[in-house]
Amino acid sequence: MRISTGVARLDSLMQGGFLEHSFNLVKGTQGAGKTLFAVNYLLHHAKNGEEVLYVSMEESWENIVKNLPEGMKKIYEEVKERVHHLDFSGIRPLLGKDVLDVNLLAEVITTNMKVYNANIIALDGIAPLAPKYGTLQDMRTAIFELSHRIKRAGGTMLFTSEGRSSGAEEYVADTVLILYYDGLLRRIQILKMRGSDFVYGKHGFKIGNEGLEVYPSILPGVSSQTPQKMKFGIKGMEKILGSVYTGDVILLTGPPGTGKTLMAYYFLNEAAKNGEKSIYVSFSTPENVVLKRARDFGFNLNRCKIMYQDPFSFDPYEFMWKVHKELKNVTRVVLDGINEVETNDEIRKAQHVFLKNLKERNILTLITYTTPVIISSYSLGNINVIYLADDIIDLRYAEIGAELRKVMVVVKSSTMSYEKGIIEYDIEKDGIKLLGKAEYLEGIISGIPRRLEMKKRVEKFFK
Ligand SMILES: Nc1ncnc2c1ncn2[C@@H]1O[C@H](COP(=O)(O)OP(=O)(O)OP(=O)(O)O)[C@@H](O)[C@H]1O
Ligand SMILES: [Mg+2]
Repeated sequence: MRISTGVARLDSLMQGGFLEHSFNLVKGTQGAGKTLFAVNYLLHHAKNGEEVLYVSMEESWENIVKNLPEGMKKIYEEVKERVHHLDFSGIRPLLGKDVLDVNLLAEVITTNMKVYNANIIALDGIAPLAPKYGTLQDMRTAIFELSHRIKRAGGTMLFTSEGRSSGAEEYVADTVLILYYDGLLRRIQILKMRGSDFVYGKHGFKIGNEGLEVYPSILPGVSSQTPQKMKFGIKGMEKILGSVYTGDVILLTGPPGTGKTLMAYYFLNEAAKNGEKSIYVSFSTPENVVLKRARDFGFNLNRCKIMYQDPFSFDPYEFMWKVHKELKNVTRVVLDGINEVETNDEIRKAQHVFLKNLKERNILTLITYTTPVIISSYSLGNINVIYLADDIIDLRYAEIGAELRKVMVVVKSSTMSYEKGIIEYDIEKDGIKLLGKAEYLEGIISGIPRRLEMKKRVEKFFK
């Protein structure tokens, strides 16, 4: 049998939770969330009607409750008759020289387990054992004794320790969970789990008002279906881009003002026309502004879930799960302006996991990426989703006939039959118009085109 850790989605990463009658360590530096983890574990089981026991050696229980997030405090108020606490912080001075003996500790804990019929136990901080058990070997023996007696009494215990201590506790523990906090993002890692497989690596971790949450670095798999042909949503686009299928990722790059968001509205409007659900995520524009703009253009985003993601507080795992939660029956997703998000290895990994999942779900995805306004050189820049895109459309400005006009070029297509030429388009009052191939010019994507000489034009005609 497995005993839940009490943390949303963490159990699924460790085959259902802690083993029954086990001794489990949560380790982390100050403020990493160890105490809250311990309390969260107890509250979860108390909510399920179990009797639980908190053992503190340093901080008083009253103080811990006082510092709980409001939501957790409320939960505590509802279940408090089942939450028992043993406070050693008060009696430690009576023991003389602050020395806590492991036999005494084990005796008091197991007696209280019997008295309250509690098998879910949390012991916050084992550092107070250190003065008596100076060497690593002594500490191991002591913790082993404690673990042995609590397990024998039927307990499933969680205990916490600070990152810097000896390592004896990792050795004895059946499970080791590490909490990380760099002042910005929280992460959790399962370091070991006896007799169990688990999901390796760091996962997102959050202290929410009502408790702790884990955002795994992986998403649940889905069995993919045969791809179906889809319409982009702009008249004539399929002729340029080639066929578009469910599960494709289309990348739209280009400088500001070339109509990327507008094209995204077309793309979503197509879903709305078919009565389908979609999701639009903006990394630059709040929801209400997005909605107003789309309405002004006459688009229908009724069945579209609009989400704003602040790029400065972006946690890739949390983001991935936030969107994932909304994916049911969704056929299209737009990620508008992902250039706003900085990239690092973790973000690249999350992007890969997330887009692969969208593919498996047969969702058609459009990603827009704003490039700098560069006329006269050609580069798609450092866009890491390039490798994940099935189709890439690049939008550009070009100087044609002493005007700054707009052109698009398909850089990559998942089909063979796409338009290799450069297409001029315009944004008019009533929307985007694809004007056709800019045939008599060359060097357009360098930004400064030249007229093709007559000889070449003739050659081209006969080709
Ligand atoms: N309502 C809340 N929302 C978000 N974060 C919170 C909330 N309440 C507390 N925190 C954060 O939780 C952290 C404290 O967690 P906790 O006391 O469990 O850490 P700890 O690992 O036990 O630390 P120590 O080693 O000092 O005992 C702090 O970083 C605090 O900012
Ligand atoms: Mg603490």
